[in-house]
Amino acid sequence: MPVQHLAIIMDGNGRWAQERGLTRSDGHRAGAKNIAKVVEAAREFGIKYLTVYAFSTENWKRPADEVRVLMELIREFTTDMLPEMMKNNVRLRTIGRTSDLPLISRTALQKAIDATAKNDGFTLNIALSYGGRAEMIDAMNKMLKERKSDEPLTEEEFRNYLYAPDIPDPDMMIRTSGEMRISNFLLWQLSYSELYVTPVYWPDFGKEELAKALENFASRDRRFGGLTKKK
Ligand code: IPE
Ligand code: IPE
Ligand code: MG
Repeated sequence: MPVQHLAIIMDGNGRWAQERGLTRSDGHRAGAKNIAKVVEAAREFGIKYLTVYAFSTENWKRPADEVRVLMELIREFTTDMLPEMMKNNVRLRTIGRTSDLPLISRTALQKAIDATAKNDGFTLNIALSYGGRAEMIDAMNKMLKERKSDEPLTEEEFRNYLYAPDIPDPDMMIRTSGEMRISNFLLWQLSYSELYVTPVYWPDFGKEELAKALENFASRDRRFGGLTKKK
């Protein structure tokens, strides 16, 4: 089975910049630019959904100047990418507590989300002010408000309250820059995703690195708790 949905923790912008004597902002700028490249490569490899972790609920703890740069980059990235997304039939989505974002970022995002809503070749899903625990809490609060039934809850029904119930669970999750942790990403959806960690920093993660990851995925035996099917 090929990778239909790929999730990526885009980590290492700061270290990438530090090693080059640049500022963290320079690193984030390079990281934002790299998203377009990886979208292109993912499309070429036949992937249908790409979810990228751009800003976590915990990243608000960072210095105000860094947060400001990241919020500005969201606006810039979204505006710059829009013509390309239209040309390539790419739909933009977001997951997370996006109402926490400043108005300039939200406005640019909403414009691109609306403009690309009917595109169906590929979905770029950006996790912004996203936390896996926040998503589950938001889902439960929504459910407490809306649910009429008193039948026992099932996984399928619970899923409908998550941010993007229509997007299938990721087949693979890649984290760049070597950290072996989930950092509050897609806690529900990653339950059976294949994990892949590369030491490469996000701004350097390109088509070749993605090809390596996909090749590695192809050799995995996904058992989902069952037994390997005899060939
Ligand atoms: C990832 O790069 C981008 C965000 C979390 C917004 P980092 O900024 O975490 O880079 P490192 O981990 O400090 O190198
Ligand atoms: C995870 O990276 C969040 C994003 C890439 C957006 P962090 O750099 O924030 O994660 P930790 O702090 O190393 O766990
Ligand atoms: Mg980091």
